[in-house]
Amino acid sequence: MVAELYKKLDSLQREIEASAVKNTQELEQFRIRFLGSKNVFKPFFGEMRNVPNEDKRNYGQRLNELRSIAQTRFDEVQVQLKASDSGKKAHNLDLTAPGRPYQSGSRHPVSIVMNEIIEIFSRIGFVVAEEREVEDDWHNFTAMNTPENHPARDMQDTFYLQGDPNLLLRTHTSSVQARVMTTQKPPIRIIAPGRVYRNETVSARSHCQFHQVEGLYIDENVSFADMKQTLYYYAQSIYGKDVKVRLRPSYFPFTEPSAEMDVYWGLKDDNDYRITKGTGWLEILGCGMVDPQVLINCNIDPEKYSGFAFGMGIERQAMLKYRINDIRAFFENDVRFLRQFSTAGI
Ligand code: PHE
Repeated sequence: MVAELYKKLDSLQREIEASAVKNTQELEQFRIRFLGSKNVFKPFFGEMRNVPNEDKRNYGQRLNELRSIAQTRFDEVQVQLKASDSGKKAHNLDLTAPGRPYQSGSRHPVSIVMNEIIEIFSRIGFVVAEEREVEDDWHNFTAMNTPENHPARDMQDTFYLQGDPNLLLRTHTSSVQARVMTTQKPPIRIIAPGRVYRNETVSARSHCQFHQVEGLYIDENVSFADMKQTLYYYAQSIYGKDVKVRLRPSYFPFTEPSAEMDVYWGLKDDNDYRITKGTGWLEILGCGMVDPQVLINCNIDPEKYSGFAFGMGIERQAMLKYRINDIRAFFENDVRFLRQFSTAGI
């Protein structure tokens, strides 16, 4: 009777040792048969009470031995299957599959246009001057011939710093003119790119922050004709040889005479009528001969020196160049917008 049981156990051992488990489903069947809650050894444990007392110990040991053989076999196969599974993945590498696209960063359109403007003016001898965005009242207004209570101050609604009415976020890069003229001697030929701030309601056409490039040229015998030619050169360089421009008389406290330059945008569709107010012309910059009072404020002799200055909004130039009709697009950092400039100007 006991011999019978041992025989059956021997055959189970052979079965375990010979089992060819090839995948996880077969391994699961193996686990259910030999290690699960209703495993094949269960009835043999039940037989224990029929085994004569003197054999009980050996019989029990034999059963435990088989159980651990099954467990060892299970562990081995499981490790093997895992290893061959990851091996398979490596071997499945398809070298002909198309690559995953690599997304590289891109320059912001404002930077692209700013760099282009710098490049255009540096070709004719202008050097970059950079200055602070938090300015004092004197450099932003007073030196630029905009004294207190002058109505021109109402032209710009300004962000003042809390606790110090003398400090403000510069409203134009013209403040750099005052910084440069009080620290350098003529001849001066600078362009000053940078951020400016105005307390304006954000809309498709205006924003409370934007970028400008200022230009300043001071030397002996600088004339209005020099300014005109310089600005015409600029317009042709950035908008193409065939660009149509005009100078229109204007007013700025720090230049006399003053003008604004327009480029002809055209009247092809309703949108063109809207953005040019029906004229076909778009203003791109302000300019003029530096007012002698500004030279005096900055300790430059107006009898000896004269000069011209100009200032332009960079977003405005970029909107024209790329035909973007909402200035807010520049500050929202929507990648769908930014991605379009990924190949330009890197
Ligand atoms: N500072 C003027 C503006 O913000 C532009 C300008 C600069 C005009 C220099 C004349 C000369 O609009």
